[in-house]
Amino acid sequence: MTTSDPPKPDGGAPVGVNSDLTAAIARLANELWRAASPGTADLVRAADDPAAGASGAGNQLVDHVPANAPLGGGASAGTLLPVPPSAIADLPLSFGGLADVNLATPYFLDLAGHPSAAWPAGAPAPGPAAAPPAAAQPAAAPVWSSDAYSLSLGEPPAVVLDTGGARRGMFDPAQVKRDFPILRERVHGRPLVWLDNAATTQKPTAVIDRLSYFYEHESSNVHRAAHTLAARATDAYEGARDKVRRFLNAPSSKNVVFARGTTEAINLVAKSWGKRHIGAGDEIVISWLEHHANIVPWQQLAAETGARLRVAPVDDRGQVRLDEFEKLLGPRTRLVSVSQVSNALGTIVPVADIVAMGHRHGARVMVDGAQAVSHMAVDVQALDCDFYCFSGHKIFGPTGIGALYGKTEALEEMPPWQGGGNMISNVTFEKTTFNPPPGRFEAGTGNIADAVGLGAALDYVTELGLPNIGRHEHELLDYGTRELGQVPGLRIIGTAPDKAGVLSFVIDGLRTEDLGHALDQEGIAVRAGHHCAQPILRRFGLESTVRASLAPYNTCEDIDALVQALLRLTGAGAFGR
Ligand SMILES: Cc1ncc(COP(=O)(O)O)c(C=O)c1O
Repeated sequence: MTTSDPPKPDGGAPVGVNSDLTAAIARLANELWRAASPGTADLVRAADDPAAGASGAGNQLVDHVPANAPLGGGASAGTLLPVPPSAIADLPLSFGGLADVNLATPYFLDLAGHPSAAWPAGAPAPGPAAAPPAAAQPAAAPVWSSDAYSLSLGEPPAVVLDTGGARRGMFDPAQVKRDFPILRERVHGRPLVWLDNAATTQKPTAVIDRLSYFYEHESSNVHRAAHTLAARATDAYEGARDKVRRFLNAPSSKNVVFARGTTEAINLVAKSWGKRHIGAGDEIVISWLEHHANIVPWQQLAAETGARLRVAPVDDRGQVRLDEFEKLLGPRTRLVSVSQVSNALGTIVPVADIVAMGHRHGARVMVDGAQAVSHMAVDVQALDCDFYCFSGHKIFGPTGIGALYGKTEALEEMPPWQGGGNMISNVTFEKTTFNPPPGRFEAGTGNIADAVGLGAALDYVTELGLPNIGRHEHELLDYGTRELGQVPGLRIIGTAPDKAGVLSFVIDGLRTEDLGHALDQEGIAVRAGHHCAQPILRRFGLESTVRASLAPYNTCEDIDALVQALLRLTGAGAFGR
């Protein structure tokens, strides 16, 4: 190992071999493609494949699994071409997600729907549409634990190399954990137990590798230059925007604005839509549960315009009082803005009801999805909200990137909030005209690579399946709530029946900062503090809590580690109790 090599976590498999993986997949795809379509151009660009010709800027390795991706082992409609064992051996099996690949598993290049797909002369005939070719059928049920990788010509349906069908349909948190290299870290000599997911989530190899791939093969500014790398970067960036669109079920990628995260997205709406539509005497309604990011921008707007900020109360379990909420709405209400999930308590807020209420009173409604998107499927059209926003880093993506969804008519009535390059259609010294949304709201060079990384994170989550994630986390939350009950003097704050991912608590006589520090000594990362939600904690008479927050890679063992540590800390009279 040279000094510049990344450290091997716990002596495990090397990580960060993105270029090897993608090159191997690209080589494999080309090899198969040449066999399937003799004389055609290569399928994908493969920098280190001497046999791959210049196949044009459009032929790029794209990291998404299209909607029609096979559900397992190449078992999908379309032409299925078994991958030769020699080519399988080319895949770097020590690579994170492929570590457990069973070589007996059949691999297929799925040519489903590709217009020029052709079965090669002499190759074994493809099997029926819903099953792999009999010759390649494994003797026993294969252990499929790897990811699916997609190779696209740009237009779906894409060509999919399905290396085993991944985990779709089955959910194994221990396997999910293996996708996250940082979770093999040791902290103070103990295995890391990451329970600070509401603050930020960790990143899977698929995201880390997608970022490396961007910088190694696609890095350029977007939109401007007419050269190959600019085209690749633009494709990747706009591809990511389309992934956000699909993830939220927005009608068009024109409804998706990239922002630094939830905070910036809320500020964008406050400073653009708010300044145009809110004036003296108007009202903005939020709930008591809000994160500071969904309080301060509205407070600032109210102070600047003479509007009034009104706050709907919560009950003793931490649920928004819908009856009281409605009473606050009236003819002066211009905007309602609420979190879908509380970061401090975990309460799931019935935002569809609040959207309907706000609309009944003619207000626009914004939903802060920062704590929701990694736990539950979101459909902005079904919710009918006017704005929805989230942060990439809370859904296994990079920091510094997030998205704002806006209804077309809402975005169109909004002026730009920042000026500069990229957002204009024409500039003279006398007058500037602006691009239509979303470009109008993205002045300057955006966070291109991280947007692409966010796209990879959304693919990852989609592949795990939000229903699987929700089910697992719900079980874990029930388990955690039960197990924490053993700790003397522990009180859970936020006991709504409908909660996602958060166990917030205090222990009689112990300071939350001391607890946080003591747990860290045991390798357990939780948040101790006000969680940027001081009003809701004060509603419960508190300045801070300890918060353990969950993700799909958490297990009952993680909860056990937390509970055992708390039992030791309370039982041993720690902190001089
Ligand atoms: C509910 C909620 N809203 C907004 C934010 C702000 O997110 P960011 O700091 O990523 O902009 C957070 C962050 O914790 C949050 O939990």
